Amino acid sequence: MFEKKSNLLSSKDFTKEEILKIMKKAEKMLPYARKEKVSDEMKGKVLATLFYEPSTRTRFSFETAMLRLGGSVISNAQMKETSSAKKGESLSDTGRVVSCFADIIAMRHSEAGSVAELAKGATVPVINAGDGANDHPTQGLLDAFTIFKEFGGVDGLTVGMVGDLKNGRVPHSQCELLKNFKGLKFVFVSPKELAMPREIVNKLKNCGHEVFETVDLDKVIGELDVLACTRIQQERFASENEYLQYKGVYVIDAGLMKLLKKTAIVMHPLPRIDELLPEVDSDLRAKYFEQVTNGVAVRMAAMEMWL
Ligand code: NCD
Repeated sequence: MFEKKSNLLSSKDFTKEEILKIMKKAEKMLPYARKEKVSDEMKGKVLATLFYEPSTRTRFSFETAMLRLGGSVISNAQMKETSSAKKGESLSDTGRVVSCFADIIAMRHSEAGSVAELAKGATVPVINAGDGANDHPTQGLLDAFTIFKEFGGVDGLTVGMVGDLKNGRVPHSQCELLKNFKGLKFVFVSPKELAMPREIVNKLKNCGHEVFETVDLDKVIGELDVLACTRIQQERFASENEYLQYKGVYVIDAGLMKLLKKTAIVMHPLPRIDELLPEVDSDLRAKYFEQVTNGVAVRMAAMEMWL
């Protein structure tokens, strides 16, 4: 089990028991995330959010979570441009310095492994808020929480992941967390060049899950319990032209929604570009705005457990 003062760096580190513990705690946090209750449990505690890469939801979500627990926040959303990173300070030194100000750190960066690098110098817990195409554990946890809320568990579900499965850190985190449960069927829908990394596919199979890969969403959408969409990750491509080859390759619209089971749910970490049309928003199966509130609850739970 995780101990106090450890970091939350990777979705790979979790056991089923730990995930279940967070799910339970997040459930208790929902009334606070929904602004129905207030807490002063973290009074006097300071969260630092260090973002070297753009964010709307994740940074605000961490900050809201800390504020709703009665704590305070120091924040830099433009670490790359305006912090001492610009002068050449190492991530590890930045971690050590920010630890003198804050009790816990949430950090996002465009390079895989960079959050772990900062954590080497930090003397307070560090939470990975997304490192390149690698991992985004708290997003994966809030996605798992959303599935738990809707289905009461994840065992035996058919989970479809659609989009840029190669570069999307969110589908990677979802797989690493969901692999801990039993008898899932993973349906991966992507262009061949943007397929889920082999390492993850093999890991899922070794854990006893079924994996099916295809380029055709319309052929498989009808069997899914969860349709987890993601955007094509433009910033991970070498050129605009390469991105344009894949832009708009999948578009979830009202027509496709007719093929989805009545009991299924649609998730998306957001932001969406053109892969999920606003006409889907009023469908009761669309859970992506609810996910935003779920994320606050999950991050409240995570900060309570890690701090
Ligand atoms: C995701 C991310 O940053 O990885 N967004 C988020 O955290 N809600 C997904 C994305 O940017 O496509």
